[in-house]
Amino acid sequence: MIGFFDSGFGGLTILRSVVELLPDYDYCYLGDNARVPYGNRSQAIVFEFTKEAVDFLFRKGCPLIIIACNTSSAKALRRIQQEYLPVLYPSRRVLGVIRPSVEEVVEQGCLKVGILATEGVVASEAYITEIKKLSPTVEIYQEACPLLVPIVEAGEQDGEATDLIIAKYLRRLFSQDKDIDTLLLACTHYPILRRHFERLVPRQVIILEQGPIVARKLKDYLIRHPEIEQRISQGGTRIFLTTDASTRFDRLALTFFGEPVASHLVSLS
Ligand code: DGL
Repeated sequence: MIGFFDSGFGGLTILRSVVELLPDYDYCYLGDNARVPYGNRSQAIVFEFTKEAVDFLFRKGCPLIIIACNTSSAKALRRIQQEYLPVLYPSRRVLGVIRPSVEEVVEQGCLKVGILATEGVVASEAYITEIKKLSPTVEIYQEACPLLVPIVEAGEQDGEATDLIIAKYLRRLFSQDKDIDTLLLACTHYPILRRHFERLVPRQVIILEQGPIVARKLKDYLIRHPEIEQRISQGGTRIFLTTDASTRFDRLALTFFGEPVASHLVSLS
């Protein structure tokens, strides 16, 4: 079984694309809905929460976990990979969403990329660091969008205020003739707002969302790592777990995952 973790519902947008491309594997999705959002929390707290989730999914037997949350990927993944796994779970793997997204930006030959994300991701500068490692010449512009996750979590994406708020963030990002050629939606929740972005960003700008990117890169990863792939069960099952209010999860999950889900309430400790 492949474990998927997010701070809440958002990672379902990533899981959706992965399941479309790789339907045969078993998946276990864990949303920490009791403690969402992570986007404005400190590094220490995001690390603790993410570690608990990783532990939980390993206890469920996942040999591989995808951290679908950008904030956890930015603030906790490296420590988990470098300090935690080698000591406690040397034969298991945890992957995030930043590295595959950055590879895509570079492979697509983007010259000037705009990144929209949570405050925590923007402040961490994780995207800047990772892009510069692969291609030092790419120009990177970032804008934190603190209101977008609450709008989507509240199911208010089609409300009148949404376009105004997105337009405000885009004005800041696209100000001063930067000639941005690519816009990366670096947050689990933003694909739900894709139609709004399509309406509001300049026509020539390519919009990248992470679900299809992560799905393709995961497929490549599993081909390159048969020792992990062979340990993942293939029964086509999907398990949805949440740390809070499973009826609300089931309702909103339909928006994020695109099909009905039945979730189970769990405690991480
Ligand atoms: N999952 C988070 C991310 O992709 C967004 C929601 C949150 O702030 O927890 O950064």
